[in-house]
Amino acid sequence: MDLAIVISLLSVLVAFTIFKIFFDRSKKSLLPPGPLALPLIGHLHLLGTHPHQAMQKLSLKYGPLMQIRLGSVLSVVVSSPDMAKEFLKTHESKFASRPQSAATKYMAYNSADFSFAPYGPYWKYMRKICMNELLSGRQLDTFLPVRDQELGVFMETILKNSVQEKVIDVGSELISLACNVISRMTMSTRCSGTDEEAVECTKLVKEIALLTGKFNLGDFIYVCKNLDLQGYEKQMKDVHRRFDCLMEKILKQHEAEAGGGADSDGRPKDLIDILTSISNNEEAEMKLTRENIKAFILDIFAAGTDTSAISTEWAFSELMKNPHIMKKAREEVDFVVGSERLVEESDIPKMIYLQAIVKETLRLHSPGPITVRESTEDCNIEGYFIPAKTRVFVNIWAIGRDPNYWENPLEFQPERFLSNDTCSNIDVRGQHFHLIPFGSGRRGCPGTSLALYFMNTALAAMIQCFDWKVNDGKEIDMEEGVGLTLPRANPVECIATPRFSQLPTWKSS
Ligand code: HEM
Repeated sequence: MDLAIVISLLSVLVAFTIFKIFFDRSKKSLLPPGPLALPLIGHLHLLGTHPHQAMQKLSLKYGPLMQIRLGSVLSVVVSSPDMAKEFLKTHESKFASRPQSAATKYMAYNSADFSFAPYGPYWKYMRKICMNELLSGRQLDTFLPVRDQELGVFMETILKNSVQEKVIDVGSELISLACNVISRMTMSTRCSGTDEEAVECTKLVKEIALLTGKFNLGDFIYVCKNLDLQGYEKQMKDVHRRFDCLMEKILKQHEAEAGGGADSDGRPKDLIDILTSISNNEEAEMKLTRENIKAFILDIFAAGTDTSAISTEWAFSELMKNPHIMKKAREEVDFVVGSERLVEESDIPKMIYLQAIVKETLRLHSPGPITVRESTEDCNIEGYFIPAKTRVFVNIWAIGRDPNYWENPLEFQPERFLSNDTCSNIDVRGQHFHLIPFGSGRRGCPGTSLALYFMNTALAAMIQCFDWKVNDGKEIDMEEGVGLTLPRANPVECIATPRFSQLPTWKSS
């Protein structure tokens, strides 16, 4: 070949390489600011046992949009309402996916679920079923008697303990209540009781929440992939095997029932009935496999039980810590409901102070402190470059405590939602980015209404029917424990004394 042609080709190649290096560098230099990373692990060592707290501290130094590296995974942390709006609303379509991990692979049937499913047609289809068939207003109304009955059973359990002057672990009782409600809506069975299945189900819920919240090195550091250095993957496989066994048993019981619909007792159709009939329908928009059904049930359990129970436990703890707030709340419940009947969901709109307590609890103790998304395409936000496949952590917990938006942010003051300023209009459904305990946008929480019903009625019933005293006269602490759903570090152990000679009646009693 002519020497001139070779030289020309080489020059083009060199020019192209130089251009690419510069281009890549300039792209990188536009990444959001962040701390210096260590080789291999990046910033994993900075996150500690409470990543939402560690990320908040870092954001005070590096700003509301900060870059961190978890092993080799480029991530950004979003810590202010304005920045959250950019990601969850303005550029919503680019951040509507979720990252895959060992937890989704081993526990969620290889992402056959929809909470962690990548954004796409399958997720859209499952979300539609969830919104229309399980958590729609109509379906929630159908299951109102179930929630009524379970609230009554919860009250009876507390009464029994109080008569025997037994110490009550409030959190455990609330988890049983939440598991029973969700279990009856999804599978028409109860979770609490002495039988093996019930105990196993409640145990699994806790283990899944704990394992999903772990930072598994194999997800972030390429050389650790499949080594399972921390032993989490082994635990995930074990949890999966036990959950699958339980689900198979329940699915087979449903299949044994004629037609897969409501049974002879006339119980309402549960989620398994609905999903089975979709899976048997040849004309359905998408074919649902048995794995999809089991993964869907897992999603609803994992996302709906612990979260609802833990936030109610936090609300109760705040009332125990702040007797003047407890007194005001009780006056409201007594005024609206009285002593003849147990509080009902239809009373909630009349209990404005109670609703403010629930909002304030979700602001300070959101059980989903960080929501995780993943970008599906390159994007520019506030002048910074966010490449595709970047992991996005929206620090809901830090946003609820941002002193630029909240006065005395660390104080529990339900009154802030009752004053005449803009605070009184703030709701929790993802429109006001100062307070997004349920996330926002198309991947926001589909269980918001159910969660709010649960929190408001359980709390109101506890206030209405019993006087509460912390066991041994101890002071209640507000220390956060470890786990995905922000549990309390220490249980709330109380003695309850009935306020009335007998429990007020409830509709389905
Ligand atoms: C106080 C209780 C609850 C809180 C604070 C809460 C919070 C959240 C948050 C922060 C997200 C992520 C939102 C986002 O990325 O923008 C979420 C997602 C989800 N939640 Fe909830 N949740 C609660 C109760 C429930 C209940 C009762 C259910 C169902 C029965 C439920 C089902 C789900 C599901 C299925 C998703 C995934 C949605 C998707 O990816 O499309 N949650 N929740």
